[in-house]
Amino acid sequence: MLNVAVLVSGGGTNLQAIIDANIPNVDIKLVISNNKKAYALERAKNAGIKALCLSPKDYEDRELFHEDLIKTLQEHEIQLVVLAGFLVNISPKMVQAFPRKIINIHPSLIPSFCGKGYYGLHVHEAALERGVKVTGATVHYVDEGTDTGPIILQKPVMVEKGDTPEILQKRVMEQAEWVILPKAIEMIANGGLE
Ligand code: GRF
Repeated sequence: MLNVAVLVSGGGTNLQAIIDANIPNVDIKLVISNNKKAYALERAKNAGIKALCLSPKDYEDRELFHEDLIKTLQEHEIQLVVLAGFLVNISPKMVQAFPRKIINIHPSLIPSFCGKGYYGLHVHEAALERGVKVTGATVHYVDEGTDTGPIILQKPVMVEKGDTPEILQKRVMEQAEWVILPKAIEMIANGGLE
């Protein structure tokens, strides 16, 4: 059984996709959000999953937040940390504490439209600005960089005429994010990753 924690900041649609996938040999033990208003916390509670809010704002020093986050994950014997729309940077200490055990979903085909400042709608605004015909989503391991770790899965999504950032984001979530994130977790839990 793989003990999984999902870290969230917003609506939690990726979390919901993981919950609904009922992945064999996976136990979603914990959901943590930095945002106490995140609807993702409601989704966790509705699914009977322990939901915590840990916010850097509640700590004098961001280092103490990171240490508490690591301690909380270790206390729950977490074996895989899933960043699902988590908007707080992961500290080098956390990457070292969970080597090859943190994955992230990014709403573009890395290495396009990723790195500092590319999150949420900004990613889709940049893709439309550039005029790409194909975009998509990527699941990758988290290393000490931003969106730079080894790629696990990617899924392409066509850009369509008249797309706005919001329409494109929704299509990328529905057609790519909600498919490859549960799939990546299933591969990790069931030995499908070389
Ligand atoms: C979305 O912008 C999604 O593309 C990205 O994280 C954001 C929040 O998604 N992965 P969610 O609904 O909170 O999972």
